[in-house]
Amino acid sequence: MELIITADYDELSRAAADIIAGCVRERPDCVLGLAAGATPVGTYRELVRLRQQGKVDFCRVRTFNLDEYYPIEPDHPQSYHRFMWEHLFSGINVRRENVHLPRGTAPDPGEECRRYEAAIEDSGGIDLLLLGVGANGHIGFNEPGTRLDSTTHLVQLARETVAANARFFDRPEDVPRLAITMGIKTIMRSRRLLLLASGASKGAVLATALEGPVTPGVPASVVQLHPFLTVIADRAAASGLQTEGRQPVRLGGGGAAPPIGTRCAADAGRSAGLTRGRRGRADPGAWLQVHLPVLDGPHVDTDVWFGTPCLTKARLVGST
Ligand code: GLP
Repeated sequence: MELIITADYDELSRAAADIIAGCVRERPDCVLGLAAGATPVGTYRELVRLRQQGKVDFCRVRTFNLDEYYPIEPDHPQSYHRFMWEHLFSGINVRRENVHLPRGTAPDPGEECRRYEAAIEDSGGIDLLLLGVGANGHIGFNEPGTRLDSTTHLVQLARETVAANARFFDRPEDVPRLAITMGIKTIMRSRRLLLLASGASKGAVLATALEGPVTPGVPASVVQLHPFLTVIADRAAASGLQTEGRQPVRLGGGGAAPPIGTRCAADAGRSAGLTRGRRGRADPGAWLQVHLPVLDGPHVDTDVWFGTPCLTKARLVGST
């Protein structure tokens, strides 16, 4: 895990956009996984800016969004289709036929889930998946209790998620109760994960997700096990994090924050007892075998770190 702590939301957005743009430059026909929600709005704004400056070209990029309400019309003001076109797609030169979201109007949601999962597979798999985290620890719309080996599926949204979404709808009864989401296995099969968290309201859930046990009760906790995870959190969201490798770090709250710009504890994973193994050959430990049959996907490189999930690299970036 690489943890990047930024001074504020704007720097988080620039850092995230730089990583995504870097991925596109490295592989112009890459497959991006994208998220809706307030958190990535600044990232999308930065990507549009980079495109306008001619610094990145999306003409061959393919995209798959994490989720969509069900049922919902694509042009509904609160649909994720509409959100993505407003915040990103209309400002970059992605081709319409390369944009994919679950169809909120599909007559048979089960069939739509299978179609969507197959489309991701057929694309060659997601190279970089952008994730936010819900206050209850959900990723995509994988609510607490979701099976860790789930693929794209129809979900009943948790009561707290419906409540959190109510602010976007005119009437409480208009808030969707169902959604189609990539499953946790779908997410974990992506080659790289980029998790964003901003604001004090995400402090507790980020700490639980990154430093607590990996458990279906906190779906975001599973990202700890991904071999290529980058987390970008602004100071407010990082304020609940206690550990940085083996070094306890306090950011804000009771202790002095390390100065922005400091790079610290690179590769703490080795000293924390991780062993390098080859997927499928080494024993990744009973927990992984029993509870997380997700690292056997076709998209994860063969060399992965097995062992206690742990922060391997942390850095602070920022201008102040
Ligand atoms: C929604 C989305 C998630 C998103 C989460 C957090 O439920 N389905 O993909 O990550 O909310 O949203 P926000 O970024 O607005 O806090």
